[in-house]
Amino acid sequence: MSVQTQLKRVTVPQIRAHKGASPVVVLTCYHAHTARLLDQHVDIMLVGDSLGMVMHGLETTLGVTLDMMITHAKAVMRGSSKALVTVDMPFGSYEESPQVAFRNAARIIQETGATAVKLEGGTRMAETIRYLTERGVPVMGHIGLTPQSVNVMGGFKTTGRTLEEWPAILADAKAVSQAGAFAVVLEGMAEPLAAKITQDIAIPTIGIGASPACDGQVLVMEDMLGLNPNPPKFVRQYAQLGPAIEEAVAAYARDVRERRFPGVENVYPMKKAQ
Ligand code: KIV
Repeated sequence: MSVQTQLKRVTVPQIRAHKGASPVVVLTCYHAHTARLLDQHVDIMLVGDSLGMVMHGLETTLGVTLDMMITHAKAVMRGSSKALVTVDMPFGSYEESPQVAFRNAARIIQETGATAVKLEGGTRMAETIRYLTERGVPVMGHIGLTPQSVNVMGGFKTTGRTLEEWPAILADAKAVSQAGAFAVVLEGMAEPLAAKITQDIAIPTIGIGASPACDGQVLVMEDMLGLNPNPPKFVRQYAQLGPAIEEAVAAYARDVRERRFPGVENVYPMKKAQ
């Protein structure tokens, strides 16, 4: 191509350049209005499959489908113009083979306009990560606590709390990095192991319940805004929107019941006859 195209959004090389420099700011986002509010403040908006629990009331992420991810990713893209949007590949959409993963990742990229996908798994997914990146799909890895494996793990458990676990997790991090992922989420991981991985691999690590030594941090937006009545222990809450919404709704209900609401004629008065 002879014409140089300037991408409007944060790019994958820009995220890679955060390694060992300023931290990468990541939040989940699932809908257009919040995408507009987040856009200027975060580097990456993650359309995470946590939307299954947050938006749809599911128990786990296992019931999330590719169509659900695409619907929410389209909304986030419409509401934003600057942040790099990364979309989770849901359970069942990528594990079977690199070819199936590519077909589904291409659907996400083509139908939503998002830049990148994220998938769970370390060494076992390295071949797929390489296959996708070599074909133009940037991939964010996700290791440690991988919620799509909840039934194999028997629950959501912090990883790396015994030294015996470390070699396999370290190997996962190296495999993801060497396969070409542009960043990797370290979820629910013992602090010193997350710090060691951050030191040992060449790509930015994005922690969630991991270590302040990571190259960036991701939180589920609803957790940090106080919309989840049972947030994970490691979440710092920056607002209490849950109680604020309840108060506002109660005030609205009182107004309506006591008929304190404007009639349309107060907003659009009757026109005088010509
Ligand atoms: O689905 C999600 O929101 C995630 C983050 C918690 C990393 O994968």
